[in-house]
Amino acid sequence: MSFFSKPITISLSPNVEKDDIILALKLIFQPWKWKRKHYEKCSRSVELEDEFKNYLGVKYSFAFNSGRSAYLAILNSLELEKDTQILLQAYTCNAAVNPIIWSGFKPVFVDIDETLNLNPEDLQKKISPETKVMIIQHTFGNPAKIDEISKIAKENNLTLIEDCAHSLGAQYHGQKVGAFGKAAFFSFSRDKVISSVFGGMAVTNDDEVAKKIKDIQEKCDEPSNFWIFQQLLHPILVNYLILPFYGFFGLGKWILIGFQKLKILSKAIHKIEKQGRKPGYFSKKMPDALAILALNQFRKLERFNKHRKEIAEFYYQNLKGLGFILPEKNENAEPIFMRYSVLLPNYLDSDLILKKARQQNILLDDGWRKTPIVPPDTNLEKMKYISGSCPQAEKTAKQIVNLPTHINIFKEHAQKIVNFLKKF
Ligand SMILES: Cc1ncc(COP(=O)(O)O)c(C=O)c1O
Repeated sequence: MSFFSKPITISLSPNVEKDDIILALKLIFQPWKWKRKHYEKCSRSVELEDEFKNYLGVKYSFAFNSGRSAYLAILNSLELEKDTQILLQAYTCNAAVNPIIWSGFKPVFVDIDETLNLNPEDLQKKISPETKVMIIQHTFGNPAKIDEISKIAKENNLTLIEDCAHSLGAQYHGQKVGAFGKAAFFSFSRDKVISSVFGGMAVTNDDEVAKKIKDIQEKCDEPSNFWIFQQLLHPILVNYLILPFYGFFGLGKWILIGFQKLKILSKAIHKIEKQGRKPGYFSKKMPDALAILALNQFRKLERFNKHRKEIAEFYYQNLKGLGFILPEKNENAEPIFMRYSVLLPNYLDSDLILKKARQQNILLDDGWRKTPIVPPDTNLEKMKYISGSCPQAEKTAKQIVNLPTHINIFKEHAQKIVNFLKKF
């Protein structure tokens, strides 16, 4: 292994290709392109909204500076009473919980099934008279049991919102996820299906909800120039300075931490969010600079997802029958496998596996492990999570190792990961 060879990695801007880096570099020197144009139709964010809604086959779409901002806009458009209970699954990210808390509502956690999505049986049990909304997450691009969950929502008069942060392009009954509920949101953050470092989209077919989200979006400011500059630097520095030095006594990691401390690079999740608090850069509109990055990635989506499915199939063929629990899919679902989740047998310690992988320059820690609300240093009390309330999610978080499927993972990388896992 050469000191300067890039590691195999699941995170750290995984979708970025050369053209994305050149685009980000050019944009740094074109600050007049960063903000939305006053004449809206010329805005690249509006172009992204239009392409996005055509792709999904929905009536309305609204671009924000993150999935969290899009999610907040949807929740606020519902005009719910304070302390309304909102159901969502455990084994999720604090970014899927905080917008509920920030909006003054109460998250109630539902356990997961074998597809790492909402378990309909536990969902039934957690409904109370105060419940008005349920969030349906399609974890790692694997669609949840939408038929069963929609039926429960209907019977109990609950509003269904899809969390499609991981699932752009995944299908259910041949229809893309994102149009099964009252509204849905997507994420373009750094390690999602497509990436503009930060970014997100709210979509709906409902005229009333659309009108309210539009009002909310119009009232949002755009992020500051410095914030935009920070995001444009991200793909460039990660690819040319950070990743190449990862194998050199971990120097790349220290460069990353240093840049984040100096605020030259942003973090995906601000440390105050782990305590349930909201950073000042939410909610904002999507600036044009990030829409340009997102559009470039969006036009490569079909290739990205085809590749993900092929790598997932490779893992399946090479890891089946070896004692690992491999992903299952629901009937009628066509996953895109943003990541390929492997559950280790009980006798294997995931910390040890990740450590040994790291020694071979394979970075498999995506932060989606250890606790039912990730990343692992999230304050569960502040998230209103009651310990023991979702035992399957807690167990899964301890046993899981996610494998990369992104466009920069070639068959030989997947083979190296398979060879590594087979040793156990
Ligand atoms: C399941 C889930 N929902 C929502 C979000 C929020 O998306 P964003 O990071 O774009 O705010 C994330 C990502 O962090 C997520 O993983």
